This record gives sequence, structure tokens and C-alpha cells, in this order.
Amino acid sequence: MNQNILVIGQGGREHAIAWKISKSPNVSKVYVCPGNGGTELDSSLLNVNLNINDHDSLVNFAKQNNITMTIVGPENPLAAGIVNSFLNAGLKIFGPKKQYALLESSKVFSKEFMKNFNIPTSEYQMFSSNQEAKDFCSTKKHPIVIKADGLAAGKGVVVSASIDESYEAIDSLLKSEHSDYIVVEEFLNGQELSAIYIVNYQGISYEIGLPWTKDYKSRDEYNSGPNTGGMGAVSHPLCFENKNSLFKLHLDIEKILIKTLTSINNYNKDDGVGYLGFLYMGLMINNKDEINVLEYNCRLGDPETQNIMLTLHNKDVDLLDLILGRKNNKKDFNLDRIDNEDNGYCCTLVLAAKGYPESYKKGFYLDLSSIKETDQLVIFHSGTDIENGKIVSKGGRILSVNVYANDRQKAIDMAYEKIKEIKVFEDKDFKHQNQDLVFFREDIGN
Ligand code: AMP
Ligand code: GLY
Repeated sequence: MNQNILVIGQGGREHAIAWKISKSPNVSKVYVCPGNGGTELDSSLLNVNLNINDHDSLVNFAKQNNITMTIVGPENPLAAGIVNSFLNAGLKIFGPKKQYALLESSKVFSKEFMKNFNIPTSEYQMFSSNQEAKDFCSTKKHPIVIKADGLAAGKGVVVSASIDESYEAIDSLLKSEHSDYIVVEEFLNGQELSAIYIVNYQGISYEIGLPWTKDYKSRDEYNSGPNTGGMGAVSHPLCFENKNSLFKLHLDIEKILIKTLTSINNYNKDDGVGYLGFLYMGLMINNKDEINVLEYNCRLGDPETQNIMLTLHNKDVDLLDLILGRKNNKKDFNLDRIDNEDNGYCCTLVLAAKGYPESYKKGFYLDLSSIKETDQLVIFHSGTDIENGKIVSKGGRILSVNVYANDRQKAIDMAYEKIKEIKVFEDKDFKHQNQDLVFFREDIGN
């Protein structure tokens, strides 16, 4: 059956999902709500100008346009119950219901969940009292990590190096718009890894393991500067040479996945539907190969998705098949990697407005005309609009340059070569070039 798909969201992740799903031979139309400049420029996608918080309008749109499946990109609509609204209206939607999305929407819930179900995570305490949190932090060896309970678009986590910094973080996170609670947790060392699964319509034990990626979260080189949504990503980030240790990691990660899914389904056993959607486990792996869960996200990552979608494209994989579970089997792209000599590597570099994630300018213009996109080189837009055919910035993370190659260094070098070709102008006539309006991290892939 030919499908009409609606993708909800407006970031680089949603551009990448929509781009990839539009390539499926079984897909007719792909709508993106509200989309961005990149989805507007792509002739195979259609932007829809509706408010994603208005579930009734989205349900009506889906009915009127014969949408056969909706895919939810960001976390806020999941936490607000968009999946519940669509299912109640008898519509197919890919994402977890809000009672499952608590894994992401409340840090307190997810830490308690991990503790109760024996899922490895760092030691923690939660607080609603500012003074009690400060008293606790003043006795602790730093660094420690302080997290707001609610969704905060990457701004709710502070890795604090000193007691003064902890006090400041407690004052700003507790009782902010995001939280009546904060979690204070032990700082973990190691390598971070984003392990993302598609928990599809075939149910548990048929989930699809997407290629592992590493996200570069801090704004500046070598993990310095404030936390951001993500400044870049690379595939296959683990530098272990040894196949046995990679295989063991794979098995350990899978055990955590299965425990998570069976436990969250058990927690919601009265619902009877089960977890459906993407499940992202943010992991920390220490030098003894021990794994801890830093966070769950009930959606794909941004910018990991841009990296993964280009990788899937180069492996000739149909995203719709993975979501529907059509091939009737379990699949893990990381196992392929461990088993074969597959050196395919993808590098994602984010171009951001100078000042991001704090205050930054919007409304400047980008000229990408010297970059020729190919099957191995794709630009996904995040914070852009189109004004009289010109690309204008409207967000902190503006776009990403994504390169896939059969060699790690080639992918990284090509991505840096191309991002440097992007020209930035203060004016729509492209007369006043000003590259200082933007920046990118110089160490992605290291
Ligand atoms: P979260 O949203 O919980 O994943 O936190 C955002 C980022 O903060 C993570 O990707 C890590 O880089 C860092 N982080 C969070 N928790 C910890 C921890 N317990 N130890 C070290 N770093 C952490
Ligand atoms: N890149 C991290 C996230 O999407 O949460």
C-alpha cells in the first residue's frame, strides 16, 4: 500500500526523517509540520503550517489528507500525549504514549525506574528543597551533575565543578519553569554512546538496533563550554579494536534494552499497548567496559538522526520497513559492523549561530550554492526559513553538513571542507559577508 506520512517537528532530525522516508518506494506524500527551510526547499516534502501543540488540528489534518502514519520527532508532543490523541481518533502514529514517555519527560521518574528495575545508572538523590540540595552538594566531591526534572531542551543539566557552581545551578534549575524537583547525581567518567532502537509494530525482541553514534554535547572543543542540544555526531564512536569486547558491549546494551522495555511495559500493564516508537539510551561506558544509563529519550536524537539517516541511505535500507517491521526479523546494524569489515563512517557537523546556546542573532542569510549534494553528502536544515528563495537563519543550530564515506578520515575531512564553503551574509543581497555570525566545533571525530 502506498503511504502518506506526516512527520511532526521542525528540526534537523525531522528534516532527516522526512528526507529518508520520502525515498521509500511505498511512500507517496510526506508532510512535515511545521518543517523548516530545508523541508520547504525539498520538492519531495510538503510543509504544513499548524501548531504542534494543537492535537485536534493535527488529527483533523491527518484525517483530511489520508495520512496512513504519523511519525513524532520531538519530545514535547510525546510528553503532552499526542500519541494518545491520535490513537483515540483511530489514527496510526509512531511514538510512545505519554505514560511511557515519562522515561524521558521526568528525570525523577527515570532515575526511580532504573533503581527499581536494577538498570545500571549513577547514584543520585532528588530534592524539592533548595537548602537541602545545597547542604547535600556541599558535602560531595565534585564534579557532580545536577538535573532539572522536566524537559528543558538540553538546558536542564549542569555538570558542576565546584560548590559555588552547584549552588548557582540549584538556584536556576529548582522551581524553574521546568521543575519542582532536581536530581543530583554522581559524575561518571568514560565514553558516551547513543544507542538508539526502533521498537516497531512487531513488538519486543524484534526491535531494530540503529548504528551507534556519538553526540558532541558541549559547545566548545574537548568537552568545554555549556551543554547544547548537540554540535556534531559520528558513527561507530567506540575505539575498541577488539571484536570480542565490542560483541560483549553489544550484548550488555541489549540486556539493558530488554530490561527497560519489559519493565516499562510492566509498569503500564493496564494499558496493554506496550512501548512503540524510538528508544534512545544515552550511555556512559567506562574503561572497564561497564555501562551506565545517563538518560532515556523516547525519540530519535538530534543530530544523531541526521548521521543515522544518511548511513541507512548508503546501506540501501528502507526506513518504512524498519518502522513497520515488515521484514519480520530482528536486525542490529552494529552486529553487521562487528561481523563484517564494514568501515562505512558518517560525520555530522552542526553549523550554529555565534553565542548559541545562550543569546545569538537570527535573520542572517546563508549561501550554500557552492556545495553539491550527493548520496554521500547531504545538508539537513534545523533553524532555517526561506525568504524569497534565500535561506535565512531562525535558530541556534542552523543546519548540519553530513558526509558518509568508506573511510573515517575521508568522511571527517570532507565534512570540514564543505562546512567551510558555506557563506554567511548580513543582507539578503549577499553584499556583506560575515562569517563571524556562525561557528562549528573543530574537533568532531576526535
Ligand atoms: P542527560 O540529558 O541526562 O543525558 O545529560 C546531558 C549530558 O550531560 C550527557 O550527555 C552527559 O554528557 C552529561 N551527563 C549527564 N549525566 C552525567 C553523569 N552522571 N556523569 C557525567 N556526565 C553526565
Ligand atoms: N543529541 C542529544 C539528544 O537528542 O537528546
